[in-house]
Amino acid sequence: MKHRAIYPGSFDPPTFGHLDIIERGAGLYDELIVAIGSNSEKAPYLPVEQRKAALSECVQKWPNVRVETFNGLLVDFATQHQAMVLLRGLRAISDYDYEFRIALANRRLNPQIETVFLIATEEFSFLASSVVREVARLGGNYQQFVPEPVAKLIANRQV
Ligand code: PNS
Repeated sequence: MKHRAIYPGSFDPPTFGHLDIIERGAGLYDELIVAIGSNSEKAPYLPVEQRKAALSECVQKWPNVRVETFNGLLVDFATQHQAMVLLRGLRAISDYDYEFRIALANRRLNPQIETVFLIATEEFSFLASSVVREVARLGGNYQQFVPEPVAKLIANRQV
């Protein structure tokens, strides 16, 4: 049986921190699906199709990784794709509260699906999509935080 995991998130925008977790996940599971949640209540920073295209380009080097978008419940998406594992990255203890709540809610929704946490590399433990958005908005060097295809999208972003 193939072990398939889902790495869900908003990825708005994708960062080197996300790629770090993807690389670790690709090494642990037979297949990894990066799942971009597109049902956020807020207006996105980058359109979901752009995020998908940029992430797909970034994960080309890992043949067992692909990128999808999803609407609705994450556990339903996981079931549809026969994945039993939800992968999430933990940077600092401050992530724990939020992650713990979501993991328990997902477990209540579908007890067969496990959430697995990977510790992000310390190099990126400060990094979040919100940091990238703010640095970009204020004219700082955001390029150091994101892969090239994402930097291009941010540079050409329509406001
Ligand atoms: O990177 P993020 O923004 O923390 O990702 C959040 C995401 C997309 C993983 C989460 O919002 C999600 O799973 N949304 C789908 C709706 C859902 O299943 N909610 C139930 C858990 S409370």
